[in-house]
Amino acid sequence: MKIILAEYRGFCYGVKRAIETAYACIGQGPVYTLGPIIHNPQLVQRLSEQGVVMANTLEQIPAGRVIIRSHGVGPEVYDQARARSLEVVDATCPHVRKAQQAARQLAEKGYYVAVVGEPNHPEVKSIVAWAGERVTVVETPADAQNLPYHEQLGVVAQTTFASDQFNTIVDILKTKCREIEVSRTICTATDQRQQAAIKLARKVDVMVVVGGKNSANTSRLAELCRLQGCPTYHVETAQELKIDWFTGVQTVGITAGASTPDWIIEEVYSKMQEFDQLLDQDMKPLEPGVI
Ligand code: F3S
Repeated sequence: MKIILAEYRGFCYGVKRAIETAYACIGQGPVYTLGPIIHNPQLVQRLSEQGVVMANTLEQIPAGRVIIRSHGVGPEVYDQARARSLEVVDATCPHVRKAQQAARQLAEKGYYVAVVGEPNHPEVKSIVAWAGERVTVVETPADAQNLPYHEQLGVVAQTTFASDQFNTIVDILKTKCREIEVSRTICTATDQRQQAAIKLARKVDVMVVVGGKNSANTSRLAELCRLQGCPTYHVETAQELKIDWFTGVQTVGITAGASTPDWIIEEVYSKMQEFDQLLDQDMKPLEPGVI
């Protein structure tokens, strides 16, 4: 069985930066992350064992430092942290920051803002918070169709949104206003990982996508691989792999979401190599005289 790794996979720049920020805070007094630093439970656990603890709200943080993760937060969170005398360590990804600023600038120029993304995604919530009052989230072409007419429409994207879907939605939004300004804030890390996954899924028998089940970008990678007609398994760790998935399989592709640590990808790769050896042994013809 040939195991091929996607050309672009795993940690993106923003996630790497946020994790390095969190590690740099270890041993320097109480430090918390507001929400999981990344959508990867194994890494969150590792950090918490070293004193970087996850808090769900600012109220849960008695004192010390709070790390803002790569998804970013709305302006009110900075105000609340200041009011509670917490030191803010800002690990908002610069690409997310750009989307937040684009939303705010469009709103200030008088545009009604449409954030193309998943309404419950923390990054989208943070972008919405920077846009003020006149803002809505558009997730699907149907949402775009249902949007009331606005004179001026400003469009911003969730950084991890699929570019094809974004284009489709923008085409519909163009019919819903007199004037449109589009800030295409999709980050290239997402595009690169998606294109590499599609390319690989088209040439292998099976795809394994590694990453948190609650990671939107990992789930989207799995969805895109399935759309290529390739049987696809989404796993969080090597322990979830099943040997049956690879029976009779010639080529397997591996990709991983932007929040998947390298060590987890390596464990998955090694486990698949083990499976390959076991399957090879099963296929060997019995030696003469062996029953
Ligand atoms: Fe930033 Fe792009 Fe990663 S927006 S967090 S570099 S996927």
